Parts: sequence; C-alpha cells; structure tokens
Amino acid sequence: MAIEQTFVMIKPDAVSRGLVGDIISRFEKKGMKIKAMRLEMADPEVVAKHYEVHKERPFYQGLVDFIQSAPVVPMLVEGENAIAVSRALMGATNPAEGRPGEIRFDLGQHIGRNLIHGSDGPETAAFEVGLWFPDGGADYKVAGEQWLFE
Ligand code: RTP
Ligand code: MG
Repeated sequence: MAIEQTFVMIKPDAVSRGLVGDIISRFEKKGMKIKAMRLEMADPEVVAKHYEVHKERPFYQGLVDFIQSAPVVPMLVEGENAIAVSRALMGATNPAEGRPGEIRFDLGQHIGRNLIHGSDGPETAAFEVGLWFPDGGADYKVAGEQWLFE
C-alpha cells in the first residue's frame, strides 16, 4: 500500500454543465484527499506543457482549444494508490466504452468531451503535480486516513 499524489483536472465541459460537485463528491466519498484545488481559466503555457505528449496527434489543437474554452478545476489529489484509484473513478477515455459507475460513462458521451483528466502513471503524476501545483497543497487528515492501520 502506498500513499500517492496525482493530478486530476475537471475539464471545461464538466464545469460548464455544473458537474463539479458530483465529480468532487466521488473522490471525497472514496476517501481521496484534495490537497489543493482552483477554479481558473487554464494558463496557456501550462496547458501546452501538459499536453506536449500529444502534440503530434490529430486531436491536439482541438483538445488545447477546448481546455481553454471555459474554466477548469485543477486538483492535487492524495491517497492510497491515488493514481490508479483516480483513473478507475474516471473510467475509460471514451465514455461510450466505459461502465456504469465511472464518471465518464455516467456523465459523458464523447471522447472529445470526457469531463476529467487524471495522471496515467507515477512519472506523469510527478510532472503534472509539479506543473500545476508548484507550491504543493494543504496538509490535513481525512476521515478514515488513520484507523485502517492503527
Ligand atoms: P486524460 O489524459 O485526459 O486523462 O485522458 P486519457 O489519459 O484517458 O487519454 P489520452 O490518451 O491521454 O488522451 C488525452 C485526451 O485527448 C482527448 N482525445 N481525443 N480521438 C480523439 O478525438 C481523442 N483522443 C483523445 C480526450 O479528451 C482525452 O482525454
Ligand atoms: Mg492521458
């Protein structure tokens, strides 16, 4: 068991549709700790670095434009296996290929409007957390954080 940090971002479609509360609630109910969170128009330079890995893909420009089309909610999430847990809460990249219970399946329909981003591995998580939250986040206990192993 390992406490990990990961980067999660609620995308403009979810913010615009009023789904921020529903999505955050799923992370909180799972027991993930939100260490930092903002609502903002994403910094274009940060977005360019974040999606540089997809620069040659055909959907790149549309993706970058979409991410900057309305506010996003970047979050620094911490918890037991937080990277895999966050990816599981999000579900398949294409909402149509997911399962009920997944954020993208429950709330989305199209791969280009899939509501949420989450780091896909330890190296990506370290890079993205540092990119979006260079100062780190607040330290506090969440319910259940201690009693599991004490
Ligand atoms: P994310 O990075 O947003 O957490 O999503 P992911 O790991 O599940 O998927 P990834 O392959 O990293 O793709 C990044 C985002 O690009 C958009 N996309 N559009 N064919 C398409 O139109 C297409 N393919 C990918 C999605 O918004 C995806 O989340
Ligand atoms: Mg990805």
